[in-house]
Amino acid sequence: MVRILPPNPEAVREGARLLREGQLVAFPTETVYGLGADAFNPLAVARIFEVKNRPEFDPIIVHIADLAQLKELVTQVPEAARRLIEKFWPGPLTLILPKTEKVPGIVTAGLPTVAVRMPAHPVALNLIRAADRPVAAPSANPFGYLSPTTAEHVLTQLDGKVDLILDGGPCPVGVESTVLDLTAEPPTVLRPGGLAVEDIEKIIGPVRVAAGAAERPRSPGQLSRHYSPRTPLVVFSGRSYPDPGGRRAGLLLFRRPTQAPAGFAVVEWLSEAGDVREAAANLFAALHRLDRVGLDIIFAEAVPEVGLGRAIMDRLRKAAAPPVDGPGRLN
Ligand code: TXA
Ligand code: MG
Repeated sequence: MVRILPPNPEAVREGARLLREGQLVAFPTETVYGLGADAFNPLAVARIFEVKNRPEFDPIIVHIADLAQLKELVTQVPEAARRLIEKFWPGPLTLILPKTEKVPGIVTAGLPTVAVRMPAHPVALNLIRAADRPVAAPSANPFGYLSPTTAEHVLTQLDGKVDLILDGGPCPVGVESTVLDLTAEPPTVLRPGGLAVEDIEKIIGPVRVAAGAAERPRSPGQLSRHYSPRTPLVVFSGRSYPDPGGRRAGLLLFRRPTQAPAGFAVVEWLSEAGDVREAAANLFAALHRLDRVGLDIIFAEAVPEVGLGRAIMDRLRKAAAPPVDGPGRLN
């Protein structure tokens, strides 16, 4: 039986003890819940792949609580990294840097680089400090499914497969961190996320944004259908609502409508007044709810691609991509 505990000091100590023993602990971060393992324990990390049903070529983000831990993980901290760290850590920015020998290959899926971030969440930071080691953690969902933004999402998706869930309430940012490859020239955003690309560019100048599915999927966030609900999803834009055509349809709007549209089984909106940050924070929870109520189809309204709107559209497009069949099929 999985235990869910409120994140008091005793529970955090228990989580740290489990991590040191090679067990898995789900914990809140400001972005989404992570499924954590001791980053220096390859067997514990292997268990993450098992539990997530995740292909082994997918590298995992290592979470740290202070800069001394960064030194254990990366061989160089270039000037651009220094500036970004000073400005945005702790926060929803993951940096790809050359790894040290100490980082097990299973963490980086054999890549010579490692993804590192310092989460801006007191429970995550306390857990990492108490464990006294970096914590490797992907989002705490089965591979290819929606990322969890509450402890309850983790419980329903990974029940029985994780030893402890620390319940820190809903994640304030609600989408995963922005992944920035600083070993590429120019620096390349592999996954848009909780930190706006515009904010990164203010600090280090122009970056490249990798073009999702068109490129070699170095980052599984770039694989199509990575963030998919099980219900078919269609993205729409424009002034009129789509026609449900007799189907049991859900409507996911960007902002609260002035009049409830007719003909839909469920109508949800991501933001009261059309704020992309609020929309991002609500995105996964709304998709989870819509995915649970037996709809034939979900119509999701496009959001403006500014700031976090880019991350939202990245996820909606992936959720909308047609399923891939055959041996390479994602689940
Ligand atoms: O907000 C987040 O980033 C959450 C929380 C728990 O921190 N974590 C998360 O992890 O979203 P995950 O495993 O679901 O996504 C990690 C992404 C993947 O797209 C992975 O391919 C990429 O980071 N990544 C990790 N290491 C990499 C590396 N060395 N090179 C390129 N991409 C890497
Ligand atoms: Mg994930």
